[in-house]
Amino acid sequence: MQLYSDAEIFKIQTPVLGRFSLGPGNPFVADKPALTRSMALKIKTPEGVWETAMNNTPVIPMSNAQDAYDLFKTDAIDPKTGKADPKAFPNFVKTHPWLYDAVKIASASKPTSDLTDTTYYGVSAFITHDKAGKEQAVRWKMVPHQAVGTPIEEANDQDYLFKNLINKVQAGEVAQKPLAWDMVMIIANTAPEIQGGTAPKDMINDSSKVWNEKDLEVKAGTVTVEKLYSENEDGLCKPMSFDPTVLPKGIELSDDPIPRLRSQLYMKSFYRRAGENQKPSEVTTDMIEKGGNS
Ligand code: HEM
Repeated sequence: MQLYSDAEIFKIQTPVLGRFSLGPGNPFVADKPALTRSMALKIKTPEGVWETAMNNTPVIPMSNAQDAYDLFKTDAIDPKTGKADPKAFPNFVKTHPWLYDAVKIASASKPTSDLTDTTYYGVSAFITHDKAGKEQAVRWKMVPHQAVGTPIEEANDQDYLFKNLINKVQAGEVAQKPLAWDMVMIIANTAPEIQGGTAPKDMINDSSKVWNEKDLEVKAGTVTVEKLYSENEDGLCKPMSFDPTVLPKGIELSDDPIPRLRSQLYMKSFYRRAGENQKPSEVTTDMIEKGGNS
């Protein structure tokens, strides 16, 4: 790893606080295999914290703020029908042909059995530096140690993804094999074809474009789950946001506009969310202690 990044964070063992979540903005949505799954982390660094929020698709169907605005508008509820216009998303795809590949990739990515065997992707490029200060663009992903299973199609429980997580953390504790994910850095433009000039270069400023699948991948660290907290009772997870522009010393933003856009929106959302009356989630600390199916 040190060939590509000399950042201190990759040389130390450090506490991490994270949150698993599901994509839609509705906190009461029932768990389903196809919902976007997310892992967000706050990694303590020698000088502060590194924040990252990742999803289970390697790219997103937007390259800039205008694409994001157009895409999120497709979810707008029509007050007459009480539903989003079913033609809005197909129209978005038609009017944004440059995002077609990203839509295809995102919709083709198959869900795994639950949150524990999912790979989570940072999506955007960031810049690292080697010992001599040479810049390198990287993307990262969290690759599970857990074997990948098949999704449960008809789960008869609207919290099954989170209950599975609780059960598997407990089983991992008993077996002394805690759940873990490797943080893997994908090193831009290292594929032999790119270096030989026979394949196009990886796009550093565009989160909607996949990178060459033969790019070098390097393990930067491992995140191990030691303890779960419920978001209601322990308070640890409540007043928290994950801003993708909060980076450790030695990693910087690239000129991809998406992390900066997310940062501004997450802060706005966080302040709005902080003012809401919150109904506790169905999953409680008691369930975490007793086991997910009690
Ligand atoms: C420009 C596109 C995006 C917009 C507008 C957007 C918007 C938002 C908003 C408003 C929140 C809630 C923030 C809060 O209240 O704390 C959020 C949370 C989140 N976003 Fe995004 N997002 C975008 C792209 C992405 C991408 C590309 C990823 C992953 C690669 C991602 C992963 C997450 C995750 C994991 C959370 C939940 C973090 C938590 O546990 O609190 N988002 N997003």
